[in-house]
Amino acid sequence: MHDALSSKAALRLALRPSAYASPAPRSFFLSSVSRRRLRPGSHLHYHVRVRLPAQSHTNMPPTPVLETPRLLLRPMELADAEQIQRLFPQWEIVRHLAARIPWPYPSDGALAFIRDECLPAVARGEGWSWTVRLKSNPERLIGGIDLRTKKGEHRGFWLIPELRGRGLMIEAADAATDFWFEVLRFPVLRTSKAAANIASRRVSEKQGMRMVGSEERDYVSGRQLTEIWEITADEWRARKRNG
Ligand SMILES: CC(C)(COP(=O)(O)OP(=O)(O)OC[C@H]1O[C@@H](n2cnc3c(N)ncnc32)[C@H](O)[C@@H]1OP(=O)(O)O)[C@@H](O)C(=O)NCCC(=O)NCCS
Repeated sequence: MHDALSSKAALRLALRPSAYASPAPRSFFLSSVSRRRLRPGSHLHYHVRVRLPAQSHTNMPPTPVLETPRLLLRPMELADAEQIQRLFPQWEIVRHLAARIPWPYPSDGALAFIRDECLPAVARGEGWSWTVRLKSNPERLIGGIDLRTKKGEHRGFWLIPELRGRGLMIEAADAATDFWFEVLRFPVLRTSKAAANIASRRVSEKQGMRMVGSEERDYVSGRQLTEIWEITADEWRARKRNG
């Protein structure tokens, strides 16, 4: 199911050598050549281009660069710790995130997260993490998005408050979700969120996800009602076909 070649075939991606030196010295550039243009105004109106490192230490595809009309999603690396440490520890970002996030945020919180959680998960083939950047200013990190094999917690994301409400995270989430289904070939994407997290719920609603359950869980801001949302690969593909 996770064979890299069949994944590529499924996406009908064109493979050609890349001149890019980063993120891996030997890398390939894959571009989606079959994605049809969707109606203007549709949030699925995007053309994802992925740059995929050639080598992986697991049988899972490695984390590629994803490109959307306005965004670059770059694989998370240790060098991102400094910007994340400056941006992430804001109440507006963490209040609806899971209680396992240390709060108050320690001075090495971002470095410890990338070094001890994020990159080891990537190496095990259990995680794919990106920083989110505007194409117009690619050096500036504005958020993060990640995918994980952890049951029921397949996707997480955050964006700096000043850039919210412009559809940016929906754009990033569409690209990551497409990677989940079309490259990683998982059958379902399931995620949870605090019921009070209206913005996160809107992202899921706009992606055609369904709420399939609820329970209480602990967040940085305390115990809250949690909603479980999901979408299957078939539903995702049907949604793309129908625009
Ligand atoms: C969730 C989050 C990433 C959304 O980012 P974003 O770029 O604003 O998302 P988008 O603009 O793509 O879409 C958000 C949608 O929610 C809506 N929304 C945002 N805040 C809202 C609010 N308080 N009430 C109602 N709707 C709200 C937006 O209007 C938009 O919907 P629309 O396109 O129909 O207008 C951002 O709010 C965030 O970083 N939150 C903190 C971290 C977090 O909670 N992550 C999710 C954990 S499950």
